[in-house]
Amino acid sequence: MTAAIAATPVDTLGRHMRDLRISVTDRCNFRCPYCMPAEVYGEHYTFLPKSQILTFEEITRLAGIFVELGVRKLRLTGGEPLLRADLPSLVSMLAGLPVDDLALTTNAHLLGRHAETLAQAGLQRVTVSLDSLDDEVFRTMNGRGFGVDATLEGMAAAERAGLSPIKLNCVVVRGVNDHTIVDLARRFRGTGHTVRFIEYMDVGNLNQWKVDEVVTADEIVERIRAEFPLEPLPPNYPGEVANRFRYRDGGGEIGVIASVSKPFCGACTRARLSTDGHLLTCLFAFGGTDLRTPMREGATDAELRDLIGGVWQDRRDRYSEARAGLISEDGHGPEVEKVEMFQIGG
Ligand code: GTP
Ligand code: 5AD
Ligand code: SF4
Ligand code: SF4
Repeated sequence: MTAAIAATPVDTLGRHMRDLRISVTDRCNFRCPYCMPAEVYGEHYTFLPKSQILTFEEITRLAGIFVELGVRKLRLTGGEPLLRADLPSLVSMLAGLPVDDLALTTNAHLLGRHAETLAQAGLQRVTVSLDSLDDEVFRTMNGRGFGVDATLEGMAAAERAGLSPIKLNCVVVRGVNDHTIVDLARRFRGTGHTVRFIEYMDVGNLNQWKVDEVVTADEIVERIRAEFPLEPLPPNYPGEVANRFRYRDGGGEIGVIASVSKPFCGACTRARLSTDGHLLTCLFAFGGTDLRTPMREGATDAELRDLIGGVWQDRRDRYSEARAGLISEDGHGPEVEKVEMFQIGG
């Protein structure tokens, strides 16, 4: 007998569920001021106790249900996912699911010692967060004084393990690292890796975001174009977050993620599973729907599928599109309570 195939849910704005971003830990070894400011997340901050964190079996079970509901891409995030003990075991469990893509977003500080085992477990690719190649700027942006070498070594290990080409994420904050973006582009031209520059966003409640700290995607492209001629490329797939550009001389491509100046909610197919088992349907949502409690109280797969599918069908999130009209006169974002980025991993 074959199991009944669940219909794939569509939300109130006609969007399907295609990607699931799974946060495996709320801990991080960095304290990027735009995500986990050190003054808030100091020595004594209490992270989630183990009992509240989904086990690998629970994550894999839920991921399987999401896949039945239409998910084709899985991405492991954090916090910093490499801080979760025995991550390769989770990767090998998830690699058994019928998805097109299994990826990891990491700051790569510890990737040097994990890349090989992750690749062997079935990880397909990695996205590395790297905000600057300038040690001084990098130290400021990771809030912990780490130099850039470990990250570059982590990338090299990923390449050796076959986890390439690599995508790099660079969050651009005006007055902090924007003077180093052309260097970053130059360094990875011709390597096959793609640097994606991300407009600084008002995620979470703690980074004191102001719109004048955002360097728009247009400005980023212009600055790089001034040195290396660029031309736009079509998306790799519908709803791709990054806008792509290629170097006219064949040196590869870059991407810009314009979630402030050109929001892309209309094509947003991403669901997020927090470390403690909540389903969030937007990066800027608050709270989410608790899947862990019903799962631990014995809900069947069919009941969990109905719960998740129902949440998706009711989804009406379009925060980034709505933000434009809600910025205050002094440049601050809307005053709504949001989940923190390190709880859902971007
Ligand atoms: P691939 O193209 O498959 O590699 O994945 P991706 O483009 O989703 O890349 P990634 O997951 O690395 O996302 C890059 C960054 O874009 C994230 O870290 C966020 O900063 C931002 N981003 C991703 N998804 C969303 C989203 O749904 N909303 C907003 N506003 N920003 C997003
Ligand atoms: N704005 C834009 N991107 C952010 N990230 C974390 N916080 C922010 C923010 N406030 C990015 C990280 C990482 C990814 C998971 O999310 O740099 O690449
Ligand atoms: Fe920085 Fe990522 Fe850690 Fe947040 S989760 S502090 S963005 S490395
Ligand atoms: Fe999707 Fe929310 Fe980001 Fe819009 S703001 S693209 S709805 S996650």
